[in-house]
Amino acid sequence: MITTAPATRHQPNLMADLAPAPASHTVRQITHDAQALTLHWDDGRVSRFEAIWLRDNCPCPSCRHPQAMERLYMFIDHELPRISQVVQSAADVLEMHFSQGTEQHVSRFGTHWLRQHCYSSAARKETKTERVLWDAGLNGSVPTVDFEAYMGTDEGMRAWIEAIRIHGIVLLQGVPQEPGKLLEVARRIGPVRHTNFGDHYDVISMPNPNAVAYTALGLELHHDLVNWRFPPDVQMLSCLKSSVTGGESLFADGFRVAEDLRTQNPEAFALLSQQLVEFRFQDADTDIRATAPMLALDAHGQLTRMRFNNWLRSSLKVSEERVLPMYEAIAALWALLRDSRYHLTMKLQPGELIAYDNNRVLHGRKSFDPSSGERHLQGCYMNMEDLDSALRLLERRASFPREADYPQADNELRP
Ligand SMILES: [Fe+2]
Repeated sequence: MITTAPATRHQPNLMADLAPAPASHTVRQITHDAQALTLHWDDGRVSRFEAIWLRDNCPCPSCRHPQAMERLYMFIDHELPRISQVVQSAADVLEMHFSQGTEQHVSRFGTHWLRQHCYSSAARKETKTERVLWDAGLNGSVPTVDFEAYMGTDEGMRAWIEAIRIHGIVLLQGVPQEPGKLLEVARRIGPVRHTNFGDHYDVISMPNPNAVAYTALGLELHHDLVNWRFPPDVQMLSCLKSSVTGGESLFADGFRVAEDLRTQNPEAFALLSQQLVEFRFQDADTDIRATAPMLALDAHGQLTRMRFNNWLRSSLKVSEERVLPMYEAIAALWALLRDSRYHLTMKLQPGELIAYDNNRVLHGRKSFDPSSGERHLQGCYMNMEDLDSALRLLERRASFPREADYPQADNELRP
């Protein structure tokens, strides 16, 4: 049954959740049986919440720690919940009464939180990030953010992160030409990802290089550190000196190229997404290997990570009948990657810092003449989790601009 109680002074503003739950829609109709609650919203959306899901997400302080906000309730230790009663205790608060064998429990949910966490197929489609795949048409219109705006404003930092998420590449201009400045740029968002090349590295030509990057050779398009089980998500390259002849940077959207391979040569695409390949880096101090498909897909067949790096591809260990098809498939992908229709070419200038999604965007460079001047880039890596977290904190701050309005961990939804 559904009853309506007088409004309480409590507001469903927290749900033991620091993310804001915007009041975007109101509930028009509430129905339930023992197994599930169904909400009909003012825009026609229908949200069904199973009883076990609701009980599992109870925000009360005995089910969720009021300061840590982590779940304490362990559903495995309780009988399957049945919904015995639903009370709309305010326009935007639902009180759920559960019976679980001899146990009774009351959970109070903000309707805005329920809308935000609705798991209907329509809602799940809404939460996908829309990538914009690109080709050489991006030349001259690379997403660009000013250093001062990035370092000093929420809008600047948001624009930078969103460009990485959507286009997979962003140019920062006006960066002070001080060695190590890129670490400040990274740490505005989160920690730098340390690798066997240190927390950052200098891309210059060296007499005894341990990687071809430290020569004056042209570099074929590639992803970095594909020999790691989880290659770094974001790479930053900051330009300090650029007076050499040549040395232009090249980029390509690997997902654009791979999608075209999927259309043009589905057999090659399928093989590269299924066959595990070993990648390896070795020098005097390390021997780091990982085995993974060159094209990683999620359960829906969408690309999640691409690994292309001819220097780090180890010798193939596949069944005999797969050797030739694998070489053909790699060549098909490689030939597309070499097609200039996909290439973004930039001669980075001192004060410019390019950042890109290393799981998606490939980078390379044209050869340069080391006797013609100087070329000095510095690089470092970051994890996408830190970019995503920073973006969510920006959203939280936009919703609660005054510190006094900031949600407190001790929630107001206790029964
Ligand atoms: Fe590289």
